[in-house]
Amino acid sequence: MCGIVGYIGERDAVSVLIESLKKLEYRGYDSAGLALLDGKGKSCVFKTEGEISRLESILPELPARIGIGHTRWATHGKPNTINAHPHVSGSISVVHNGIIENYLELKESLESEGFVFVSDTDTEVLAHLINKYYLKNPGDLAIAIRSALGEVRGSYALSVLSEEHPHELIAARKDSPLILGLGEHENFIASDIPAILKYTNRVIYMENLEMVRVKRDSVQVFDLDGNPRFKEEHIIPWNLEAAEKAGYPHFMLKEIHEQTNSIHETLAGRLQELEGDVIFDELDLDKEQIQNIHRIEIIACGTSFNAGLLGKYLFEGLTGIHTDVDNGSEFRYSNPVLTPSTLVIAITQSGETADTLAAVREATSYGCTTLAITNVVGSTISREASNIIYTRAGPEIGVAATKSFISQLVVLYLLVIHFARARSMMDADRVGKLLSELRKIPGHVSRILEDKENIQKCASRFAESKDYFFIGRNINYPIALEGALKLKEISYIHAEGYAAGELKHGPLALISEDVPVVAIAPQGHTYDKILSNIKEVKSRDASVIAIADSDDGEIAKYVDVVLTVPKTDFILTPLLTTVVVQLLAYYTALERDCSIDKPRNLAKSVTVE
Ligand code: M6R
Repeated sequence: MCGIVGYIGERDAVSVLIESLKKLEYRGYDSAGLALLDGKGKSCVFKTEGEISRLESILPELPARIGIGHTRWATHGKPNTINAHPHVSGSISVVHNGIIENYLELKESLESEGFVFVSDTDTEVLAHLINKYYLKNPGDLAIAIRSALGEVRGSYALSVLSEEHPHELIAARKDSPLILGLGEHENFIASDIPAILKYTNRVIYMENLEMVRVKRDSVQVFDLDGNPRFKEEHIIPWNLEAAEKAGYPHFMLKEIHEQTNSIHETLAGRLQELEGDVIFDELDLDKEQIQNIHRIEIIACGTSFNAGLLGKYLFEGLTGIHTDVDNGSEFRYSNPVLTPSTLVIAITQSGETADTLAAVREATSYGCTTLAITNVVGSTISREASNIIYTRAGPEIGVAATKSFISQLVVLYLLVIHFARARSMMDADRVGKLLSELRKIPGHVSRILEDKENIQKCASRFAESKDYFFIGRNINYPIALEGALKLKEISYIHAEGYAAGELKHGPLALISEDVPVVAIAPQGHTYDKILSNIKEVKSRDASVIAIADSDDGEIAKYVDVVLTVPKTDFILTPLLTTVVVQLLAYYTALERDCSIDKPRNLAKSVTVE
């Protein structure tokens, strides 16, 4: 996620903005920039790729008292200086977080009106659009911004500075966080509380579709029709460290909660319910090429491998393309059978995992088309694969992958639907229905999060266990693997993920009253089968924790604990059962007082073989 800051007051604006941006560094970024009005009211923009210290090194002495700043985490266009914010049109400078979904059509129309674009970003569209309306009706910057936002589809938190309005900043938000910090003869704008805590703990939270005019001695909030809004002031009781985690005790819990938003971001601009299709602007594979794929080879490690395994079920089930999944570390030494009609999909949140990168290089040497699914724009894999899809989950700080995993799953669903349409394997009606169900997933995830006390209770009950089993069938088998991986990674309990039908071929020997078994059992075509597997372990005295649909009235008879997920299309259930296993691992580790965000022996990005 990018960071936004804004300042107006009596202090040195350059130092305030730089200090504030540094407090957002923990979120990750690839470039940074400032727009300021100098002593003569002239607008000056400074931006650079890389770290804030690099930006500082190019800043001259400047007697500025007003300005905006940004740290960018690329979603559209490479992480370089040109694409860094602020973006400028005429006298107007803009910093923006979020995604403008219809930026391509807006860009075309602005270009036909003579606006010249210099970057690859969606944000530059906003700068030109605001300027266009301002030029038509000069005098009120807020009105121009309101008109521009009326044309925009997508999410935004933005802040605007104009030479013509040296005594005010305007900011607005929709689906992307924005707060105001209140001071004495000074006010602040920020995307996150840590940015302003050094200066004030008095804040106003901006709501969706609200806009604000920030002056040195006042803030006026109004809706997008210009009607004033009364806003309450809040006092933040946190210190800086707590603020970086938005008040959550750990980044992992914060990131689990952020999944409602990250799913939304992953879907943004990609769904076409009416046409019954999915679009990926970034994908360079046409219908004919998709039809000619004979085999898919998915390569990934760790959590990303589990996402890949779900991909195998989905690709084979919905597109009919034979699909294999391999660990990066195994694939490259396994004499893989690859032909030019094999599509190699590499899944890696960091885009830097050495084993996955080496496997992609191997595949490229066979002449295969490669497609990387990654969370990090500009990462090594994004430069090496022939196609890239970004998961847009935002920076993930906890070593345990959570929101990046769920966004990988969402991308896989979309990709499979896109391929199924291209190969005439799904009709528009079925796709339309599935896409509308997908849109409901963030709401379902919120419901699971609201009910997390139950999961916490269950975690405490079994926290002293030495071994755990996670079982699932079909599309929930990868989630059983993921549940076991999460648990062992952060709580140090030995855990195994198994295809439920495999227990009887060996592991059943380990089942006893001391071993909790998590059975992932939403209702679908394998429901009866997993009920039988539950009975198998129950008769060996195991405690069974079932993850089941909220309307399942039957399963409670056979198990010790039921953790529910809202009802959705069976095929989408992994998106919900994942959240339960993540929370179970989190609360178990919490109970055992483990180092949750930085588990022993592990790193966020594994760049060695
Ligand atoms: O960045 P990648 O997705 O390629 O990372 C792969 C694994 O190292 C990673 O998923 C690891 O298993 C996570 N820490 C699991 O939470």
